[in-house]
Amino acid sequence: MLHKQTVLIIDYGSQYTQLIARRIRELNVYSEIVPYSVSSDDIRQRNPKAVVLSGGPDSVYAEGAPTLDPLIIELGVPILGICYGFGLLMTYDGGVVMPNGQREYGFAELDVENKSPLFNGISKKSQVWMSHGDAVEELPGNWSVLARSGNGVLAAAGRDGGVVLGTQFHPEVVHTIDGKRIISNFLFDVAKCQKDWTPASFVESTIEEIQVAVGEEKVLCGVSGGVDSAVLAKLIHEAVGSQLRCVFVDHGLLRKNEPDYISGKLVQSLGFEVEIHDFSKKFLSLLVGVVHPEEKRRIIGEQFIRSFETATQSGTGFKFLGQGTLYPDIIESGGVRGTADVIKSHHNVGGLPDDMSFELLEPLRELFKDEVRQVGKELGLPSDVLGRHPFPGPGLGVRIIGEITEDRVKILQEADHIFIEALHKYDVYNEIWQAFAVLVPVKTVGVMGDERTYANLIALRAVTSVDGMTADWYRLSEEVLAEVSNKIVNSVPGVNRVVYDVSSKPPSTIEWE
Ligand code: XMP
Repeated sequence: MLHKQTVLIIDYGSQYTQLIARRIRELNVYSEIVPYSVSSDDIRQRNPKAVVLSGGPDSVYAEGAPTLDPLIIELGVPILGICYGFGLLMTYDGGVVMPNGQREYGFAELDVENKSPLFNGISKKSQVWMSHGDAVEELPGNWSVLARSGNGVLAAAGRDGGVVLGTQFHPEVVHTIDGKRIISNFLFDVAKCQKDWTPASFVESTIEEIQVAVGEEKVLCGVSGGVDSAVLAKLIHEAVGSQLRCVFVDHGLLRKNEPDYISGKLVQSLGFEVEIHDFSKKFLSLLVGVVHPEEKRRIIGEQFIRSFETATQSGTGFKFLGQGTLYPDIIESGGVRGTADVIKSHHNVGGLPDDMSFELLEPLRELFKDEVRQVGKELGLPSDVLGRHPFPGPGLGVRIIGEITEDRVKILQEADHIFIEALHKYDVYNEIWQAFAVLVPVKTVGVMGDERTYANLIALRAVTSVDGMTADWYRLSEEVLAEVSNKIVNSVPGVNRVVYDVSSKPPSTIEWE
């Protein structure tokens, strides 16, 4: 790996840890999350420009609460402890942290008392966000106060001439008005980082890494029509050209016209060939009579692997398999986080079994989703290819409640197409994280002309989200809803009713199955 400056974030389980990493990267400095069990030796070896200690749900005195190897504080590397991380630094030096009775939960006023590079360019009073019931009661002798909150609670302090710093508030969340500036001050004024993490630098160094890793060997890559696999394929192709073979497996549970999109718009944008293999009949035959969501997922997932094998058996000598693993996959799969709850992992249809004799090539494994899009842009992929909503591996299989039949796939494709077209027409597609139709094969009564009908229900779902982990329903205008509903009921045979899903995640999920 080429040298790049790194800021390491030690994770104490805060819901904001990933946000800290993203904020730092937005400022063009590479950052990585490491578990709190990391040792000072590990840190020294990684040679970071700075270390950030995240917040966390525990109290520093709680039994079994996560700790910090104290030698890390003495490495001479600039440190910023946030909330729980600040508490840890305090207790190490003999300070006292006490529950403050939630006095400081939510918005608070920041009152800068002493000059520090951390607050360069920030007005003397500004708004910050606190999310912890603990506060520093007694500051150790080797620390000095930098800021307090409106209530007099210690909000920021530093030691060692301001190289080791702590804030009780969260600079990474948007509610802290000057948060971005504070992080920027820490990176550039305190830790003297350089802005060397850019899409262009990533592309350049990753192409070199791929070339070194692959040499003269051949690479196989599954392309799904989604953003990640498109960027992945483009990046690998830039590195090794015709040593790459791209394969698209059509399982028949795709959006309307998807194979045309792959062979047309996508191939044209990529500038190289993608083989299309149609296995839709095979998938549909296996799904006859299957209604249970997990059973559907299992069948689709397994057959995907078999189909991929069949599609690629004609070619031999592929040493590498390109995979679109992203950084959140690494974090959430437990590779990094020692504390956060394990969140439901999805079978990704791009994922292939361990017994396939490939070496994995995962050049996007350091990236967040928004960075994948930036890299795609850098590689010259057009914005409509990069702006596509995520689409689940099992496709319409998890959007057709109950049994999957050819007719039902057709109904859902038509309804979904009408919905998505309208979102483009009204220019709201890009404001939405994910939108789709769901076929609910519950027959309800309707009337068309003089006749009563007894037909299916279509649910429309549109959500906003940052990463799919939480989501809110999108406030779609009445005008769009009315137009889409009318069009679906009037032009999709077998549908006589349309509803809009107004549930958020949690407690619902984005998909219906
Ligand atoms: P949920 O429904 O769990 O979805 O709120 C969160 C995100 O994950 C996608 N999703 C899947 N992706 N295989 C996938 O590759 C799956 O089985 C699967 N289930 C859900 C979903 O579309 C959303 O973006």
